[in-house]
Amino acid sequence: MIFVTTAGKVGSQAARLIAERDLPVRVLVRHPEKAAALAQAGVEVFPGDLDSPESIDQAMRGVSRVILVTQPVLSQELNVIDSAGRASIEHVVKVTNTADAHSPIARRRIQSEIEDALVASGLSYTPLCNNAYIQNFLMMAAGSAQTSSFRTATGDGRIGHLDVRDVAAAAAEIAGSPAGHAGKRYWPTGPESLSGYDVAEIFAKVLGRLITFHPISYEVQKQAMIDVGLPEPVARDNALAVAWMADGDCDYVTGDVPQILGRPADSFEQFAIDYAEAFS
Ligand SMILES: NC(=O)c1ccc[n+]([C@@H]2O[C@H](COP(=O)([O-])OP(=O)(O)OC[C@H]3O[C@@H](n4cnc5c(N)ncnc54)[C@H](OP(=O)(O)O)[C@@H]3O)[C@@H](O)[C@H]2O)c1
Repeated sequence: MIFVTTAGKVGSQAARLIAERDLPVRVLVRHPEKAAALAQAGVEVFPGDLDSPESIDQAMRGVSRVILVTQPVLSQELNVIDSAGRASIEHVVKVTNTADAHSPIARRRIQSEIEDALVASGLSYTPLCNNAYIQNFLMMAAGSAQTSSFRTATGDGRIGHLDVRDVAAAAAEIAGSPAGHAGKRYWPTGPESLSGYDVAEIFAKVLGRLITFHPISYEVQKQAMIDVGLPEPVARDNALAVAWMADGDCDYVTGDVPQILGRPADSFEQFAIDYAEAFS
């Protein structure tokens, strides 16, 4: 049994892919009624809460491998790691990003603490240190559809945008066949590193109308995130991560997705085609 800790963007797709391979897969959810489609796809939907160690222990019964993904929430991931240790889990696939114990960005410090806990647990694990998800653009889709433009603080910076469906596929692949992945660290990216101007060109080609990229400052980016309801510290961290992209923080492409999946990583253009309606 493979246990997927959440049914978010990565977890739900990874669980589906595992079910498609006829492997037993269980996903923990707080609201089972929202996961009916997953149940129909053959995924065991397990009602529980990652804030409750008891419910994680129950979800861990009969499990040999875990896909560990949260938003990230430190206490939730530590609960899962403790439970996985008690259950002597064979392998953990850890969905993460750039972990850094000294980063001013809280989630990077959290990811570093989580990895320290994985090391201390002695569990076999494979970190997927993902580049920025293409699907982040979906947060701008409605505004972009109205204005035929999008605004970010990425300046001239290029980003090796990664499709979250590839993250899910990589996690499912490793969880399904961990041999050969234990002890390895992957840096999944998309197939190319693109500036905001490149992205605008791709959207224009796919959508058949002019799309304009407007670079904005860190302060404007942060305020825009506060305006859509993010708490100030989260908006600050997110805006900082975006502003660092202007300085090349995400300007890299690796062959890790093709290495894991045996096929090229999905392109930004494919994402734009698949989600064209959201931007139209
Ligand atoms: N975005 C990026 O560009 C990027 C880049 C690199 C790495 N990452 C990494 O990707 C990960 C996020 O993955 P994701 O996009 O799949 O997350 P997501 O879509 O935000 O999903 C998070 C899930 O956690 C569930 N959840 C929250 N609290 C819970 C609880 N107490 N018990 C059970 N479930 C709970 C939520 O379910 P509810 O419906 O119950 O709320 C939701 O389904 C993070 O580790 C992040 O660092 C992101």
